[in-house]
Amino acid sequence: MFEKLDRLPDDPILGLMAAFRADSAPQKVDVGVGVYRNDRGETPILEAVRRAEQLVFEKESTKAYIAPEGNAAFNAAMEKLVFGNAHSLFATGRMRTVQSPGGCGALRLGAELIRLGSRESIVHVSNPTWGNHVPLVGGSGLRIERYPYYDAATGGVAFAAMVAALNALPERSVVLLHASCHNPTGADLSETQWRELLPVFKRRALLPFIDMAYQGLGAGSAEDAFGPRLFAAELPELLVAVSCSKNFGLYRERVGTLHVIGETPAAADASLSQLTRIARTMYSMPPDHGAAIVQEILASTALSECWVEELSAMRERIVGLRRALVQQLARSCPERDFSFIGRQQGMFSFLGVTVEQARALRECHHVYLTDDSRMNIAGLRDSNLEYFAQAVAHVLM
Ligand code: LMR
Repeated sequence: MFEKLDRLPDDPILGLMAAFRADSAPQKVDVGVGVYRNDRGETPILEAVRRAEQLVFEKESTKAYIAPEGNAAFNAAMEKLVFGNAHSLFATGRMRTVQSPGGCGALRLGAELIRLGSRESIVHVSNPTWGNHVPLVGGSGLRIERYPYYDAATGGVAFAAMVAALNALPERSVVLLHASCHNPTGADLSETQWRELLPVFKRRALLPFIDMAYQGLGAGSAEDAFGPRLFAAELPELLVAVSCSKNFGLYRERVGTLHVIGETPAAADASLSQLTRIARTMYSMPPDHGAAIVQEILASTALSECWVEELSAMRERIVGLRRALVQQLARSCPERDFSFIGRQQGMFSFLGVTVEQARALRECHHVYLTDDSRMNIAGLRDSNLEYFAQAVAHVLM
């Protein structure tokens, strides 16, 4: 059976993680995988998470099964976090939520649901998009196509080209959008642009499938959720896949949600029944521990305040690093403009070097970024910014 299988190449992001670990050079810099790091290069467990986890240990009296849709209290708390406490949606009864194994699980659940709705659906993803979007969503059997998104000349969104492409899509197409902190470019839609997209979605009856993996790490929790909140208020149908990996630092615990909004409460109920069947047939139930931690945090004013403070500190560190990196690069590469890095948001930016230069950064300077030159800004430190900028200058020479 297995003799016929081909050996696949490593995942472009996870393979880099392994290569970085194997590198013994003390000066090595990890700007590869999207994991937040502090100025000591560590990804510490958040204080709010530590305290909540303690409460979970004290309160937990059983490890018996919960349900394919997960922990109801966690799901309800996540609806409030994602859409805000007073969203008009809550009065309509049109939203249902399932807990998922991370944001990846939510994306796959959403893709499977779309496929059950219509096998012919085409999912349009931004060009470029996160490296795992196409395998994850396309793995359900749906066809994937790309719409223009990133303008490498400005480091911003190619908005006119994006709108023109969406306007030309067949009606009822599915469009995968990033709520904020676009992965891999860091180029986000402004609030005005989200508003301008709305009539396009209405006119073409497009289904938005929004991936929100970085709520709170861009401009703030409410700001980063502007798009999903607006679309949820204005459109008949919507899917939002949420990850708690980054904003709660719960990566390996696999915590996420999928929110489905149907045109009527009955359509939402039908979607929920399908989602629980999909979960049951793929993995039966999501893991509970991380979700229980998030639920403890969101249920407690003190823990929520502690978490919001820690989340703000992570966000501010990224903003500060972006500014400092622009200054360092201006010093080491004066002939090239890197100011776009300071205008972008979240953990990622494209450095804008060639594949050969990205490989030279790795092989000659022990700087680990993906071949497409995506870098995780949060992987930098005050102490290695200058080294990083000089390495960039060297490969650009
Ligand atoms: C990333 O983009 O690096 C992260 O989301 C981790 C992953 O699973 O790829």
